Amino acid sequence: MGKLRLGVLASGRGSNLQAIMDAAATGKIEAEVAVVISDNEGAFALERARRAGIPAEFVDPEAFSSKEEYEKAIVALLQRYGTGLVCLAGYMRMVGKVMLDAFWNKIINIHPALLPSFPGLHGQEQAWKHGVKYSGCTVHFVDEGMDTGPIIIQAVVPVYDDDTADTLSARILEQEHRIYPEAIRLFAGGKLKITGRKVSWEKGTGPLSHS
Ligand code: GAR
Repeated sequence: MGKLRLGVLASGRGSNLQAIMDAAATGKIEAEVAVVISDNEGAFALERARRAGIPAEFVDPEAFSSKEEYEKAIVALLQRYGTGLVCLAGYMRMVGKVMLDAFWNKIINIHPALLPSFPGLHGQEQAWKHGVKYSGCTVHFVDEGMDTGPIIIQAVVPVYDDDTADTLSARILEQEHRIYPEAIRLFAGGKLKITGRKVSWEKGTGPLSHS
């Protein structure tokens, strides 16, 4: 069986994309990035892909008459590259029915907070403003809601008195770069099982047994 082919959707700087590409290049995950797609022509994520020799595609949402048509174009691209798992990495749009139907339980997202707390935009800043003592990040399957799908893996970081939203974001980002490849590793190994809202992995294969 060939390696799992990843389609990464990113709207911005692409540091999570980089972590995924690095994990794939060094063999930490049994997967390869087949295509990187962005809704933002100037996204540095596209440049990172080009530098790594990975197809980089800009799909302009403004060029389509509806969200459905836009997503049909994305799905066609993902399918053309043989995508087995879609990874949202700083993709700043809600995923709609067209993509969900085409890749049900095959779309995952990273969010910079401990869901279900602080969904939506600027999760790190929301948590910092709220005054929580711990925050973190979450990789989850994507469903119709805003950051509501079944949780695969989370990492926790402390919030210090002298933190700013920026210092907290940096601490969280470090953990994002660790757990996103870890979630892909589990998916690629066929180890994840979804039961209702709960995601479990086969004994002995999870992050606790894999430092
Ligand atoms: C990351 O912190 C990611 O968790 C967040 O955007 C950033 C993208 O950074 N995603 C969301 O807020 C989604 N709601 P990156 O482009 O360097 O990977």
